[in-house]
Amino acid sequence: MNLKIRKAVFPVAGLGTRVLPATKALPKEMLTLVDRPLIQYAIEEAASAGVTEFIFVTAQNEQLLRDYFRPNPELERELAQRGQQERLKQVQNILPRGTSCRYVTQHEPLGLGHAVRCAASWVGDEPFAVLLPDDLIHQADKSCLQQMMEVYQQQQASVVAVENVPPEQVSRYGVVTPGRSPDTAGKMQSIVEKPATDEAPSTLAVVGRYIFTPTLMPLLAVSPKGAGNEIQLTDAIATLLEKEDVYLYELEGQRHDCGSALGLMQANIDYALRDATIGAALRAYISGLVR
Ligand code: G1P
Repeated sequence: MNLKIRKAVFPVAGLGTRVLPATKALPKEMLTLVDRPLIQYAIEEAASAGVTEFIFVTAQNEQLLRDYFRPNPELERELAQRGQQERLKQVQNILPRGTSCRYVTQHEPLGLGHAVRCAASWVGDEPFAVLLPDDLIHQADKSCLQQMMEVYQQQQASVVAVENVPPEQVSRYGVVTPGRSPDTAGKMQSIVEKPATDEAPSTLAVVGRYIFTPTLMPLLAVSPKGAGNEIQLTDAIATLLEKEDVYLYELEGQRHDCGSALGLMQANIDYALRDATIGAALRAYISGLVR
């Protein structure tokens, strides 16, 4: 088994309906968090875990993403002339050193499983990660994907990130049954997509970080439509479970759902308060407002 994961898939073709009209022309992954787009945080998390190839599954909206990751010599020249070295370094390092991007278009909105399947030819017969950039995860020391990578390397099996959510929210997520015996501790026993509140097997919800062995992609290729008439990643994981162990990684940090206006606002406040440049001023401003 290949213990090094080089590739990560970023499904970025969603319509972002919960943040319209901002997402009418802007992919939701390009929405701003403090001073950079959401996608930047996702690729940095992937890079922190050793990923060097980012595969973006886009809809018709890929031009802005491509522009963002492409070098901009005019801007760089201008910043250099003005002596703005810090800013220059920032724009030159948008793509971490030694990494590269691939783009593939998902022509029809057939679901998350279908989006991941669209990346099959770039992923090939390798283990790979999937990150949903609107699930923003802040962990103080090691990033979520870094921690999951350690589980993957120890167990040599797929790993799915989960979080305990309030019972009334389970119907928004894939929900898992965790193993409860000494033999099955840390492993997924079953998974179901968006169960009704009273039918959910637990309150452990899947959040947008996955590591898969090469077994997954062929299963996804033959996965039929499931919940919501979409090809669900969850269904392929359920089939994967019949063949291999799948491990759970329970989030230690804080997650923000940046696909909603409220979640994006909260994430902005959270990250901005922690920001070395603007944190103190924002804290003073908010205190003034609250008073
Ligand atoms: C997708 C997955 C779901 C998972 C969620 C995490 O749902 O299908 O299993 O829990 O992402 O954010 P979506 O948010 O695309 O409806």
